[in-house]
Amino acid sequence: MGRKFFVGGNWKCNGTIEEVKKIVETLNAGQVPSPDVVEVVVSPPFVFLPIVKSLLRPEFHVAAQNCWVKKGGAFTGEVSAEMLVNLDIPWVILGHSERRALLGESNEFVGDKVAYALSKGLKVIACIGETLEQREAGSTMDVVATQTKAIAERISDWSNVVLAYEPVWPIGTGKVATPAQAQEVHVELRKWLHANVSPEVAASIRIIYGGSVSGANCNELAANPDVDGFLVGGASLKPEFIDIIKSAE
Ligand code: G3H
Repeated sequence: MGRKFFVGGNWKCNGTIEEVKKIVETLNAGQVPSPDVVEVVVSPPFVFLPIVKSLLRPEFHVAAQNCWVKKGGAFTGEVSAEMLVNLDIPWVILGHSERRALLGESNEFVGDKVAYALSKGLKVIACIGETLEQREAGSTMDVVATQTKAIAERISDWSNVVLAYEPVWPIGTGKVATPAQAQEVHVELRKWLHANVSPEVAASIRIIYGGSVSGANCNELAANPDVDGFLVGGASLKPEFIDIIKSAE
């Protein structure tokens, strides 16, 4: 079976209740391909998850932007995987580069989070990607392989994982990776998974691209055979997110 196109919208730390309702209205009114063709998951900030889930068209799903690394308890400010499951939130984004860079989340910590979230029944969008310095030093593949390895060492079932390749340098900068640059890393990641996890996982896992994806560049990016969708930041707050979903066709 082919890999179903996946479009995630990461709203990051944005929005008021009024703005969130407006975004949901736009999403609900959008003419998009059927859920057989594209899986759509939007990720509002924690506080808006319940309302977005309740208002959103049923074929679209929601994701949290993070969760705690183990069972909840005395961890001020954290939200546990159990709480997300309790609220019927099916997805969580883990390892986003903003958290890795600003909050010091290491590869191992992200790997532990992915393993714990999966063990509780959540589906995970696991983010990896290199910085500009790392790309210019020629270490892109080493970096993303090391990040992926920290996950691979901790999980055995990849069926509920989407791997988001998000180079740091195009995030929020308007400086999108070229379709060839995205395709090249996705192919290399699949080779790495083939050699280090299994040929089945390498063939079946969705590897999506993130970094300044827009209505204007999504079709060209989506035309690459190993780009199985997108994780969209800024443009997921705008009506053009509908055009990005349509690039699945
Ligand atoms: O999670 C999404 C990525 O950080 C991409 O953000 O589309 O605003 O560049 P962006």
